[in-house]
Amino acid sequence: MDKFRIKGGRHLRGRVTISGAKNSALPCMAAALLTSETVILHNLPYVRDIITQRRLLEDIGATVLMPELRTHKITADNIELFEAPYELVKTMRASVLALGPLLARFGKARVSLPGGCAIGTRPIDLHLAGFEHLGAEVGLESGDVVARAPKPGGRLLGGELHFDKVTVTGTENLMMAATLAEGKTVLHNAAREPEIADLAELLNKMGARVRGAGTPTIQIEGVESLGGAEHTIIPDRIETGTFMVAAAITNGELEIKGCRPEHSAIVIAKLREVGVEIEELNQSTLYVRCCGSGLKASDVTTEPHPRFPTDMQAQYMALMTQARGRSVITETIFENRFMHASEMQRMGARIQIEGNTATVEGPTQLTGARVQASDLRASASLVLAGLAAKGETLIDRVYHIDRGYEKIEDKLCAVGADIERIRDSVTGPLTEGGIQNPESRSQKG
Ligand code: EPZ
Repeated sequence: MDKFRIKGGRHLRGRVTISGAKNSALPCMAAALLTSETVILHNLPYVRDIITQRRLLEDIGATVLMPELRTHKITADNIELFEAPYELVKTMRASVLALGPLLARFGKARVSLPGGCAIGTRPIDLHLAGFEHLGAEVGLESGDVVARAPKPGGRLLGGELHFDKVTVTGTENLMMAATLAEGKTVLHNAAREPEIADLAELLNKMGARVRGAGTPTIQIEGVESLGGAEHTIIPDRIETGTFMVAAAITNGELEIKGCRPEHSAIVIAKLREVGVEIEELNQSTLYVRCCGSGLKASDVTTEPHPRFPTDMQAQYMALMTQARGRSVITETIFENRFMHASEMQRMGARIQIEGNTATVEGPTQLTGARVQASDLRASASLVLAGLAAKGETLIDRVYHIDRGYEKIEDKLCAVGADIERIRDSVTGPLTEGGIQNPESRSQKG
């Protein structure tokens, strides 16, 4: 398995460009299953999860052409298989996003029930309850979820449903399913992440009638069929936040281009509060550097958008190890998302875990160590800690980071970081369609 070797202590300086948002690209790729016409997606990030999603679409029978690395032309006009197989769902739980489109368009779908993953049990009960609310029959057969429309090959029936918990992919799955249902569907307590609005924009370009995406109540008027469309994926707000922290934690300064500051408002506000200087140079560029008087600790609680994102929790924890004082970090979304803390403790971080809160004392001069990544965002936080640490850090299992960050080591090297990828002869480079690491088969995100 590939590793990263980082020699810490460099102040990052220069310009980074943000890639497309993985968590928008994944549902948008699934949305192509809703039509037999071609859906063209631009600005896809070149990351492992996108390769996995492409393999899933091809296994289902769609054709995926790539005129260039970050553009996919998807045509689902000869679907033979109405299922997402175990091997792929095990690797990436976002494969469940095939459920809604297949059920809506063909009246049937079979998806391996995703197991838990490093950060939690990750159930999909809210997705399934939603499909049942739209008239589907949902059952479990040898570990697979099998869903059928009320009448064989028939359409789902629009209805009003209330999510007991805010669920991002649950909202996306039901929004896609409702586009082809008979009548109107209203989703209450819907997720409000920018990726939801991006998916809704694509669906409406395809001829859907979705209103209210980005608010807690989304209304969808079902239509008979959808057509092709062309769409550019929004920039990745979590990659943006990660590089903002990289500038601050190395006491450097970065110009972050190709981002959408308004999608990172809460993260920008929190970083400014702890002493990071952030200037919005224009609608797609941020200038970030640490203030002269250093960082001061501040508490944070993760909550659904527009509150502080759970996907920035680990990166924020790394930053708080360098801040003066005590910060209490409360994780309310996932039940096991502090695994990065024990790795940071190996680097000298002073962190106490109590249930779903982590108390960080700082500042601490971190020292390089051999650490192990456990999930996508934990990997990013260990890179950040390594950049700030004295000496050399070796991060194992970096295939986790390859799932959601496009060539992060190249982007960091370009702004002065001393980081190199040590390729494991077994795994080899990130290749097309390949899932190189047997270990990674058990990863989900
Ligand atoms: C999405 O996961 C993201 N993944 C995650 O990003 C992100 O951390 C998460 O939303 C929260 O923002 C993608 O968009 C592909 P949820 P998702 O359904 O949709 C519980 C990353 O690092 N829940 O919003 O799977 C669930 O267990 C990844 O890029 C149910 O109980 O998350 C969790 O506690 C990691 N039943 C909470 O709700 C359900 O049916 C929020 O989960 C669904 C969810």
